[in-house]
Amino acid sequence: MTDFTGGNVPLMSTWAIVVAGGSGERFGQRKQYLALGAERVLDWALRSAAEGTDGVVLVVPADAVDEPEPLATFVVSGGASRSGSVRAGLSAVPDDATVIVVHDAARPVPVPGVWVRVLAAVAEGADAAVPAVPLSDTLREVGGGTVDRARFVAVQTPQAFRADALRGAHASQPEGTDDASLIDAAGGRVVVVEGDPANIKITTPIDLSVAELLCR
Ligand code: CTP
Ligand code: MG
Repeated sequence: MTDFTGGNVPLMSTWAIVVAGGSGERFGQRKQYLALGAERVLDWALRSAAEGTDGVVLVVPADAVDEPEPLATFVVSGGASRSGSVRAGLSAVPDDATVIVVHDAARPVPVPGVWVRVLAAVAEGADAAVPAVPLSDTLREVGGGTVDRARFVAVQTPQAFRADALRGAHASQPEGTDDASLIDAAGGRVVVVEGDPANIKITTPIDLSVAELLCR
């Protein structure tokens, strides 16, 4: 990570948690271990995390915790839910970390500008910063009518947090599909920055085909 302090003042110690503890039910298998180019899906996410931070905690399914993962600083067993897996990762992040970035292993496409934007927003004082992109499909409420698409954005990872805000938001063991939603629930301030449409999450097999095009 770039040291803007000339090595004198450790202003921010930034760690990443890469969550790879899921089972890939919608995909049909553990998508994070599938090949993407010359590496696995999760290796792409780990490389992005290592470039943007001082250390990386990788969270994997319990039966994979003994596999060597040279791109990670620490490897820990995940939980039954994504939020549980983030908490498992938090337990391995050093206490002196001031900023923690949570990233999905299932988002392999490198988007360095997104890492810069979320980290800058937290450095400027946000409790949390999330990347988001506009929606392109018309949005309709299930059992209801069409809603105004312009009122919504789709939220991605990496999501950056003041470490104390993230630890505080997880203290009561809440559940959410991301971490910024837990900051909202805890009354923290979430800043939205520009995401990247290339920063897709691999959810079903078609997403892996798209990632193959974006990662070559
Ligand atoms: N994840 C995790 N631990 C869990 C569930 C999810 O670490 N118990 C991770 C996934 O490995 C993934 C990220 O959280 O990198 C986003 O989750 P998602 O895309 O939903 O992956 P899965 O939960 O594996 O897929 P599915 O919901 O289809 O089962
Ligand atoms: Mg899931």
